[in-house]
Amino acid sequence: MLDPQNYSIVAIGMVQSIRTFSDCDILPQKWNWGWKFYCYIPRIGQVHLNIPSDQPGVAVISDLVVHKYARGKGYGRRLLSLCEKLANLLEADALGIWADPGDWPIDWYRRSGFKNRGGNPEATQDLYLEKPLKTQK
Ligand SMILES: CC(C)(COP(=O)(O)OP(=O)(O)OC[C@H]1O[C@@H](n2cnc3c(N)ncnc32)[C@H](O)[C@@H]1OP(=O)(O)O)[C@@H](O)C(=O)NCCC(=O)NCCS
Repeated sequence: MLDPQNYSIVAIGMVQSIRTFSDCDILPQKWNWGWKFYCYIPRIGQVHLNIPSDQPGVAVISDLVVHKYARGKGYGRRLLSLCEKLANLLEADALGIWADPGDWPIDWYRRSGFKNRGGNPEATQDLYLEKPLKTQK
């Protein structure tokens, strides 16, 4: 996996190629547990992509939210695919996400290629799912 520090400019260029998100920047920030890429789309929503240093090769999505009045128009799908593109750019082997087993987005993630990774399927707390990536190495 590549060092996220070197990828802010490439990531911004990548986002600018997605017309609807032309005013979005993706900025990586170093935390004590690894790297976090912040992606905010004004008036639409946000997503964070985390690169934990104790999980080599895995990029984990968090804080995926579309504003109430913008939901159901495909923005969530674009944000999810943006994370996948960025994770591929970083040469991650897999994309992870936490989801509430009792809420509909978990079915959406499964349709999008995410599968349960460990944990108890009957759990009431969030489940961790992962999608393998086609990384060009
Ligand atoms: C989850 C969320 C980000 C989805 O964003 P969105 O822009 O509304 O979603 P999209 O319009 O891109 O639709 C994505 C998929 O979900 C489905 N979907 C959208 N709204 C749905 C709903 N209310 N119920 C069931 N499925 C729904 C769409 O059909 C689509 O499926 P497909 O890709 O298989 O065709 C948004 O609803 C949200 O911010 N919810 C509150 C925060 C949250 O739950 N975040 C997820 C944390 S794990």
